[in-house]
Amino acid sequence: MKFSNHIKYSTLLLLSSFLTINLSCTTDKHPRLGESPVQEVIDAMTIEEKSLMVTGAKRREVVPVPLPGRKQKNITAVGGYTYPFVHLGIPSIMLSDGPAGLRIAPRRPNDPETYYCTAFPVGTLVASSWDPQLVEKVGNAMGHEALEYGVDILLSPAMNIHRDPLGGRSFEYYSEDPLISGKMGAALVRGIQSQGIGTAIKHFVANNQETNRRTIDAVVSERALREIYLRGFEIAVKEGDPWTVMSSYNKVNGTYTPQSEELLEIILRKEWGFDGFVLTDWYGGDDPVEQMKAGNDLLMPGLQDWSDAIAEALENGSLEKELVDRNIARILDVITRTSTYKDYPYSNKPNFKESIKIAREAAGESMVLLKNDADILPLKPDIKKVAPFGNYSYKLTVGGTGSGMVNNEYSISLAQGLENAGYEIDAALHEKYTDYLKKGKPQNLEADSLITAMPKPDSILGELPLDASLIRQNAEESDIAMVSIMRVFGEGGDRKLETFYLTEEEKNLLKNVSEAFRAKGKKVVVVLNIGGVIETASWRELADAILLAWQPGQEGGNAMADILTGKVNPSGKLATTFPLDYPDVPTTKNFPGTPAENPEKVVHEEGIYVGYRYYDSFAVNPAYEFGFGLSYTDFSYDNLKLGSETFENEIEVTADIKNTGNKAGREVVQLYLAAPGKAMDKPVKELKNFAKTKLLAPGESQTITFVLDARSLASFVSERSAWIAEAGKYTVHVGASSRDIRKSAGFDLEKELTVEKVHKVLVPQEKISEFKRK
Ligand code: BGC
Repeated sequence: MKFSNHIKYSTLLLLSSFLTINLSCTTDKHPRLGESPVQEVIDAMTIEEKSLMVTGAKRREVVPVPLPGRKQKNITAVGGYTYPFVHLGIPSIMLSDGPAGLRIAPRRPNDPETYYCTAFPVGTLVASSWDPQLVEKVGNAMGHEALEYGVDILLSPAMNIHRDPLGGRSFEYYSEDPLISGKMGAALVRGIQSQGIGTAIKHFVANNQETNRRTIDAVVSERALREIYLRGFEIAVKEGDPWTVMSSYNKVNGTYTPQSEELLEIILRKEWGFDGFVLTDWYGGDDPVEQMKAGNDLLMPGLQDWSDAIAEALENGSLEKELVDRNIARILDVITRTSTYKDYPYSNKPNFKESIKIAREAAGESMVLLKNDADILPLKPDIKKVAPFGNYSYKLTVGGTGSGMVNNEYSISLAQGLENAGYEIDAALHEKYTDYLKKGKPQNLEADSLITAMPKPDSILGELPLDASLIRQNAEESDIAMVSIMRVFGEGGDRKLETFYLTEEEKNLLKNVSEAFRAKGKKVVVVLNIGGVIETASWRELADAILLAWQPGQEGGNAMADILTGKVNPSGKLATTFPLDYPDVPTTKNFPGTPAENPEKVVHEEGIYVGYRYYDSFAVNPAYEFGFGLSYTDFSYDNLKLGSETFENEIEVTADIKNTGNKAGREVVQLYLAAPGKAMDKPVKELKNFAKTKLLAPGESQTITFVLDARSLASFVSERSAWIAEAGKYTVHVGASSRDIRKSAGFDLEKELTVEKVHKVLVPQEKISEFKRK
């Protein structure tokens, strides 16, 4: 019955388009979007049409006919689209992933063309740039590709917090710190939207794990929510102004986020001023009517059952018409901003040259040099022949799997990047590895499939066993060894603990290579092509240098070579901590939740003590701390000055950063604040601002100016539902990492300050015994 209704409707839809084309203007009395007041357009919709407007159209057998005179878009190539209402002048708009570049099907039926997109570096890598301007540039390029492929909204950026290193989707997310996450998210939004393409900041909120992601209840204190999990989104909304927000799959304190009016109407809209529409994650939530009431305006990708339930609730009065009209008005407002609505003549031919340049630059500016004993890097002029070991020296993993994947045309491996830079690669090794890797070749690309060229998990293709003699021969003939370690993760599952450690095969390879090369007085560089944090402390002595490349996008090998050769001076710093071992992680007891066999809830007992906030406050030493990263030059920090000794509305902080080495370079300058922490439980210090210098020539200096606002001093006090700054002495620490503080200075806040009062919402139903310093 339902099915025939829906066929009837799609036939009608097609018919109406013909009518509109043929009778254009003469008999069409309908109000039209953009020409008539929006409420008139909404009033002209039937209940059924309204229910279709608020539910996507991809999962129905319906053709989204274009407006008269416009060309049909390739709808199967994208992640989702909305319903068209041709007679009301409302086009169907296209939404597609994702955070590392546009994800569309590369092949289309009966079409010889291939529609590739550029794979940019993943979120974790670009965040290590600490450079929002660079991220904005990446956004420009992503937005440009979306525009030229006729896509209206990029489902990006992904902004959840790195709560636990085993989080399966951490590669897409930026950081363990909400300030970095928010600034990067805002920058990507600005970049993409500057092209006239919308964004969907996601997944709102507390979607920090993949285990049971569709049902898990994140039990989090109001304070941890406000300070850690909501904060990044707040910054992105206020500084980026995204067109849309994607709610998450999980519940927060008992309620599905798409069904939480407190989250979507009170926090997001009333408190933060968000003015776009909210869409669900694909099939998120369990009650379409509740979602409408909560202000989750669009349900994606759209099922007939959902629109039926909404239509029925509208009919019987259990869902107020005004609420659905409100949701529709928000969707229509965004539709009028889109390139489809504006009839942009997309070319299907983006400017890849520019994208590729930006992808390489972004990767090079973000990779983190973790170790460089005796300054073995950049490679010295006498190094001519390189021996790359490890499967993934010959095949780059550009990003993670799932909706964050991009269907890119090519990727540059480490070996290829080194060859491009003029190095000789040992031919025997090259051949052995490339032959072996053919076994793991991706499947054929199927027309219209979004899931293509899936990298095989490394566990399937174990490290190629090498004869000791081949390693020895290389130690004799090559000038330096490089060993690649790869980890790929993806959507829909968290990492297994064993992926945190090197496998036996990897350890043996590294040990054998290291012994053979060191016996000949030669060095070993480890390159980490990984999608999440791994253990490094037990093996790092075997390496003379370690380059953390994360998942660097398709130009990764060239960007690695840029750093290894010194063409680019590394300036990336960790936006997430590398702990010494997994048991040191604050969430080990509460990840991925309870009961262990099939988690239903995940209690955030660590509260605000996530990442360095925990390691620093509870004196746990990491392998590489938050904010850490080496350069080929050195920087001095001088003249730290505060604008005043007492805080009024804000305080200015300046410091002079000078390049004291002999290579041009950029420094990431970090400002941490230590609060009095008398009555309030406060971390030892928290990142409150950061800046990246320009490229400083040797001897050159730059004055960096930061402004600390009242919010930077405050913590969220749940009992008072307010951001409060405690009176007392505050210390500003400026440094090169969270544990490399170079200069400190203090100021006073004479009287307690209530910075902002907010609503009492998202209250956990159970008492959480949170970590406290005292
Ligand atoms: C993911 C989202 C993605 C959506 C559409 C979901 O499974 O969680 O991040 O945007 O699919 O592909």
